[in-house]
Amino acid sequence: MRDQRVAEVFQTHRENETAQIEETFSTFLSIVIPTYNESENIIGLVIEIANRIPEDIRTEILIVDDNSPDGTGSLVERFARENNFDETHSKGRILTIKVVHRPRRDGLMCAVLDGIKSSNGKNILVMDADFSHPPQLIPRIVGELKHESNCVVIGSRYAKGGTTVGVPLERLIISFGATGIARYGLNVKEVRDPMSGFFALPRHVLKDIEFNTKGFKILLEILVKKQRHVTVKEIPYTFTVRKYGYSKLDLKVLVDYTKAVWSLYKYGRRSQKRLEGSENRRSVLFLSKAARFFTVGASGLVINFLVSFLLSNGTVANLWYVQATAIGIAVSITTNFLLNKIWTFEDKKFSVLYTLKQYGLFLLFSSLGISIQLTLVYLLVESGISYNLSLICAVAAASISNFILNKKWTFREKVWG
Ligand code: GDD
Ligand code: MN
Repeated sequence: MRDQRVAEVFQTHRENETAQIEETFSTFLSIVIPTYNESENIIGLVIEIANRIPEDIRTEILIVDDNSPDGTGSLVERFARENNFDETHSKGRILTIKVVHRPRRDGLMCAVLDGIKSSNGKNILVMDADFSHPPQLIPRIVGELKHESNCVVIGSRYAKGGTTVGVPLERLIISFGATGIARYGLNVKEVRDPMSGFFALPRHVLKDIEFNTKGFKILLEILVKKQRHVTVKEIPYTFTVRKYGYSKLDLKVLVDYTKAVWSLYKYGRRSQKRLEGSENRRSVLFLSKAARFFTVGASGLVINFLVSFLLSNGTVANLWYVQATAIGIAVSITTNFLLNKIWTFEDKKFSVLYTLKQYGLFLLFSSLGISIQLTLVYLLVESGISYNLSLICAVAAASISNFILNKKWTFREKVWG
């Protein structure tokens, strides 16, 4: 099956050869695809792309591989060589396939940047290797690039008509949260999917951007630094979860994302001093504190679990499990309180009485949060909503009210800002 398709692609490209030779040799499109352990996907994808690119568009595909243990890099290299798509044999042809080998795994963002550095095309398109980004969209993207020379084209999950299929709920929530923070916090409101990993743009747009964040979000950085100088066009598509291999998005990626947002935020502050005190800044402050507050909450769960576990299984002590759980709760509420005081709200007043009073309020609001959550779950489930959804709404309502109450009363800040 695959061999037959390769043969077809091969044939089409041979037919195009003559027509092509008269045309200019400059490459119109460089497709940059970062890979780490994508051997099950990559050849199929390359064939699919080869089938999709318009016949008059000279294209190079750059696979940026981080020395994948499953041999993705060499697999592509062999495929390119055997089908004469490699650099030495593809002269005068529509399609070239190159592999950029990097010595070790070093993150998606700098893989993409390295790919761009090694590319020659007038335009650059970035996409994933796992078929989450449908190659069928490429002709439309190319159409937009041809039509407008100053346009960032985004394959968009969240524009009207776009959607996601098969993405687990917790990833959807993370994705919505991160997208919301980016859109409102970093002032790229007009863009529905600024976190897309599927986008294209003319090379000149990148000319004077100094990239200095890590993580997954190269498009976000481009938008924050360039949006006033380019038009943005979003093309809706359906994001589907990968069939083969595993996702590389992990906790480290989330941490990198948080750092990236912070540094882009500071960038915005430096370059737009006039926005000082504006609505925009206050929303960033509010959101960054909310993010810290929820991070502390998550750390509390871990601490709660660890303490209860270590106190009951004999590692530290051999307490009755109810006692162990109670201590776990007490310890985690206390660490939550302290972390919120020191980190989230940067409160420097440490007199004993004042701190105890704050601690009391914090406990009070925590119990209030628990009651809100219980009541809401009950009401929603009884009104016919599924337990999962009810739980999410209830946890969200409880955490938000918790955040706002503590912000206003425990740590004496304005609610907004
Ligand atoms: N070279 C290299 N180095 N490639 C990497 C690395 C790395 O360290 N980490 C990931 N990749 C490659 C993968 O092989 C894949 O082709 C692509 O980058 C995306 O990685 P996935 O592991 O498939 O990420 P995901 O599906 O969880 O995340 C995607 O979806 C997000 C939306 O939910 C990405 O497209 C994100 O950009 C997107 O925002
Ligand atoms: Mn993926």
